[in-house]
Amino acid sequence: MSFLVDKEGYYGEFGGAYVPEILHKCVYDLQQNYLTVIESESFQKEYRQLLRDYVGRPSPLYHAKRLSERYGCKIYLKREDLNHTGAHKINNTIGQILIARHLGKTRIIAETGAGQHGVATATVCALMNMQCVVYMGATDVKRQHVNVEKMKMLGAEVVPVTSGNMTLKDATNEAIRDWCCHPTDTFYIIGSTVGPHPYPDMVSRLQSVISEEIKTQLQEKEGRDYPDYLMACVGGGSNAAGTIYHHIDDKRVKIVLAEAGGEGVDSGKTAATIALGKTGIIHGAKTYVIQDEDGQIVEPYSISAGLDYPGIGPMHANLSAQQRAQVIPVNDNEAIAAGYELTRLEGIIPAIESAHALGALPKMTFKQEDIVVLTVSGRGDKDLETYLKIKQI
Ligand SMILES: Cc1ncc(COP(=O)(O)O)c(C=O)c1O
Repeated sequence: MSFLVDKEGYYGEFGGAYVPEILHKCVYDLQQNYLTVIESESFQKEYRQLLRDYVGRPSPLYHAKRLSERYGCKIYLKREDLNHTGAHKINNTIGQILIARHLGKTRIIAETGAGQHGVATATVCALMNMQCVVYMGATDVKRQHVNVEKMKMLGAEVVPVTSGNMTLKDATNEAIRDWCCHPTDTFYIIGSTVGPHPYPDMVSRLQSVISEEIKTQLQEKEGRDYPDYLMACVGGGSNAAGTIYHHIDDKRVKIVLAEAGGEGVDSGKTAATIALGKTGIIHGAKTYVIQDEDGQIVEPYSISAGLDYPGIGPMHANLSAQQRAQVIPVNDNEAIAAGYELTRLEGIIPAIESAHALGALPKMTFKQEDIVVLTVSGRGDKDLETYLKIKQI
């Protein structure tokens, strides 16, 4: 049995496409076409060229010696923070805009939490000369305002969303509403491995370049193409899916994912979906959702705008249900401490999202000879104010 998607768009019992009638045709067309487009020679040529010359791939696999010493194993950092626009998100937006163009769409919409996906979408829209509208919760507009200014400079319209607690879930609701009103000309570039099939699989495939590079780079550095551990943070799950894609069915590799504990899993202020979620439907997919007894979604909380989401990708829900992945909640204060630790040990300021993956390191027990690959999904420039507010050192 594979942990990748099946023909019907499911990962075990999770996934599928639960969409309103008005979107059936768009989603169906995408389901019918995405693999043909992605696997075509012309797509691969343009996508690979842009990843190399525009994004700056391959991203380095960096042996972090001082961090390794601290945790008693050999830690490599996969440096997605060094990509153009500062995170892994652009691997996906470049691919999706090429697919949108192929399907004849002229208008792009997106949701964003941390603003990284919004910036990556606005960037490729500028590049391809397409109209761009980005929905962003009003809370996130405030805490990630540098990214808001970047999106505007790139020519995107940023729409602040004031429903719910004004974060990623609410931005996604609004983007889906827009899509329902403009199903013919508009392509929805979803920023994570969430949403109706084929989005989780399409985004995973576009991010799988991370895992493809890890294999080649490990082979060069270690003489074997697999690590003992792969680690990444999970919001919706795209950097994690990209990190594990080519090792997902290789049992020699342990998968460790960090989700946002917020102020603590039992504090009522958390986004730890695997720890607390029950099966439900959110944004078109069956997955774990943090919800009350009546099935109402509970407002999530995390210091990290990119992890502040009450759902999780169906791939990751299944990995956890099947015990293929260990999912560890990392609280705000643990993530901030880990972000400072990386900064002082290695001179790398990580995004607060990525700092959650680092915050899982102290919760692990490693052997000296273990090879650990941890993905630094983004850079911390957008988070400086938050880091400095909670100054630790
Ligand atoms: C730098 C960074 N890392 C991680 C995430 C979480 O998203 P995902 O789980 O899809 O990788 C985000 C989301 O905005 C992000 O900006």
